[in-house]
Amino acid sequence: MSRIRTPLSEELGLEVPLFAFSKAPAVVAAVSRAGGMGVLGAVAYTVDQLREALDFIDAHVDGKPYGVDVVMPAKYVDGGAGHDAPLDPDKLEAMISPRHRAFIDELLARHEVPPLPPGADAWHNLLAWTEQTTRPQVDLALSRPIKLLANALGPPPRDIVDRAHAKGIKVAALTGAAAHARKHIENGVDIIVAQGTEAGGHCGEISTMVLVPEIVDAVGDVPVLAAGGIGCGRQVAAALALGAQGAWTGSIWLTAAESDVEPLLKQKLLRASSRDTVRSRALTGKPARQLKTGWSEAWDDPAGPGALPMPLQFMLTADATTRIHRFAGQPGTRAHELLTSPVGQIVGRMNHERPVAEIMSELVRELEDSIRRMTAAL
Ligand SMILES: Cc1cc2nc3c(=O)[nH]c(=O)nc-3n(C[C@H](O)[C@H](O)[C@H](O)COP(=O)(O)O)c2cc1C
Repeated sequence: MSRIRTPLSEELGLEVPLFAFSKAPAVVAAVSRAGGMGVLGAVAYTVDQLREALDFIDAHVDGKPYGVDVVMPAKYVDGGAGHDAPLDPDKLEAMISPRHRAFIDELLARHEVPPLPPGADAWHNLLAWTEQTTRPQVDLALSRPIKLLANALGPPPRDIVDRAHAKGIKVAALTGAAAHARKHIENGVDIIVAQGTEAGGHCGEISTMVLVPEIVDAVGDVPVLAAGGIGCGRQVAAALALGAQGAWTGSIWLTAAESDVEPLLKQKLLRASSRDTVRSRALTGKPARQLKTGWSEAWDDPAGPGALPMPLQFMLTADATTRIHRFAGQPGTRAHELLTSPVGQIVGRMNHERPVAEIMSELVRELEDSIRRMTAAL
């Protein structure tokens, strides 16, 4: 594979300025092997599961650079404990209203979603999406040969940035606004991921086309990666044209052959068009782009109780989410109608399940063609 260089990709030792967020270790390793940088999303993992995932990547990445992404939101409900104090799950549970609990029971009953069998585990981590849960993940990640630590939903705490730097690890932070980007930089962040509203997962309201040059112009020499709506080589070329030093992608890897997305959900994603997503608080309590389903429609319905703030929405829905994923596709339930995932508008181009190496080589070919075409126009 040929090299397409930007100062940042050179510094990180990449052959292609392409970053791939995925929670599947096999995707992360395959992207890095193909010359990009795979970044493992750690939020869904316990520390033990994360260790196993990192072991897998280390064994399959052929020594190529990879990264880890964690979620430490700057703002969440802490039940009065303060972000530095241990969160009290009972206090947080008490903040969830009976109306919300009844609403979710009724929604699941209407879709004939059975309860979990006795002894089955609901989602392991009721306090995911808080600094308290994430710090042990960061401690583990920093002990591994990673080249990049990324954080979503706010600037990572200064002590974590300093520890990463002491090990030669670059720190990236996602943002949807120029003002937030400047705050990240004050906190020592090295790379800004400017994420437009097209993106899967948490996002703001401004499109990638508008946001990226705005942030590039606001942050001086700090490298910016463009995120949101990037799935092919022409779009990576557009990101470079907007002043970014690379592209940060997420959605396109959900339907890769190596992705761990369950088959039924993968089929839903493969069939969806670019109009089939919605920016909704239904998943986590903060606005996140996701596949539009009965789940988002119920939480966005003005007649319903509405989603709770982070992390309460996640705590409220953990059991339901586990049940929906467990029973979707089984006879006698309509759980599949509620089955959803964060995904961006690029879902409309995700129409075939393909191995990562094939996605990468086509993307690079198209990126090179685009650069040649633009150069020829001079
Ligand atoms: C299924 C899914 C889960 C995501 N979870 C996270 C996350 O935990 N942390 C994070 O920094 N970004 C997360 N994102 C956002 C991605 O890192 C990336 O910024 C986004 O997918 C880019 O836009 P795209 O989906 O149009 O490629 C997620 C995206 C998707 C699709």
